[in-house]
Amino acid sequence: MRKKVTVVGAGNVGANVALRIADQELADVVIVDIVEGIPQGKGLDILQSGPVQGYDVNIVGSNGYEETANSDIVVITAGFPRKPGMSRDDLLMANYEIVRAATEQAAKYSPNAILILVTNPLDAMCWAAQKVSGFSRNRVIGMAGVLDTARYRTFIAQELQVSVENVNAMVLGGHGDTMVPLVRLTSVSGIPLTEIMPQDRINAIVDRTRNGGAEIVKYLKTGSAYYAPSAATVEMVESILKDKKKVLPCAAMLEGEYDVNGLFVGVPVKLGSMGIEKIYELSLTAEEQAMLDKSVGAVKELIDVLQQKTSA
Ligand code: APR
Repeated sequence: MRKKVTVVGAGNVGANVALRIADQELADVVIVDIVEGIPQGKGLDILQSGPVQGYDVNIVGSNGYEETANSDIVVITAGFPRKPGMSRDDLLMANYEIVRAATEQAAKYSPNAILILVTNPLDAMCWAAQKVSGFSRNRVIGMAGVLDTARYRTFIAQELQVSVENVNAMVLGGHGDTMVPLVRLTSVSGIPLTEIMPQDRINAIVDRTRNGGAEIVKYLKTGSAYYAPSAATVEMVESILKDKKKVLPCAAMLEGEYDVNGLFVGVPVKLGSMGIEKIYELSLTAEEQAMLDKSVGAVKELIDVLQQKTSA
């Protein structure tokens, strides 16, 4: 039997996640959105690409959750995107309500699913989804690090004029301006980045990576990035559905790792059929630890606001 993935939110990110899942023939897809007609129309349109692209998967759109029953994975992309000048944090309360409602419904119909959160502010939305679903921490995962490392790897490959496939990297921390690209562990086909790129260029790339989302928002004006975010999400979906056990940077709920308790933070994890099958705890330099602490502090601030406003 084919696997089944629900994608909540039929907007830019959601529709592209659905399209990529179909293109890679990973699973049947149910797209859910509150706007009548949009998930149905986009679903049918993606379905009709099948004969041309050569995929045999079923795609349906819906405004309810009945059809999502027994999904293996639920990807939540529903929410407002960032507008220019708006920080991810401004989105907090508006998107909290959306993610709360979506998680409640999705968890009701697919109690054994793995949840992948995409809606921003990411780390806070993961926290909300875990609270609302009550799912164990291996089944609630946030997409951020795969996107952040993809941006970082792109800039490095561009600068060095090498294949993006040769650039290996890890980013820790929250999905925001305080993320921690681990320069020390970045390599180009095993060659440490620090040996082949001057420090000032590395610093510029780290800075551009930290602001990678905002750079695109500034161009688009009416929305935020969706091609790379959907690609990153589907790499996670694939690793889970095929039990590939890829080691990827994802937002995971920490219970003591990195001295963090009860918060979602980007860390290296192993993604397989059970969801997060392992969290890798790296020994960090004092400087890296300080940057991570700052990033965790930014995540905690949002959770404090959520806890106050929702008495969760
Ligand atoms: N249930 C289902 N869908 C909803 C709900 C809800 N309660 N509320 C809003 N939506 C839908 C909207 O109707 C819209 O189709 O979510 C979709 C969001 O799509 P876009 O506005 O195109 O936003 P997108 O670019 O896809 O970004 C979605 O992902 O990367 C993050 O920061 C981004 O939080 C944002 C999210």
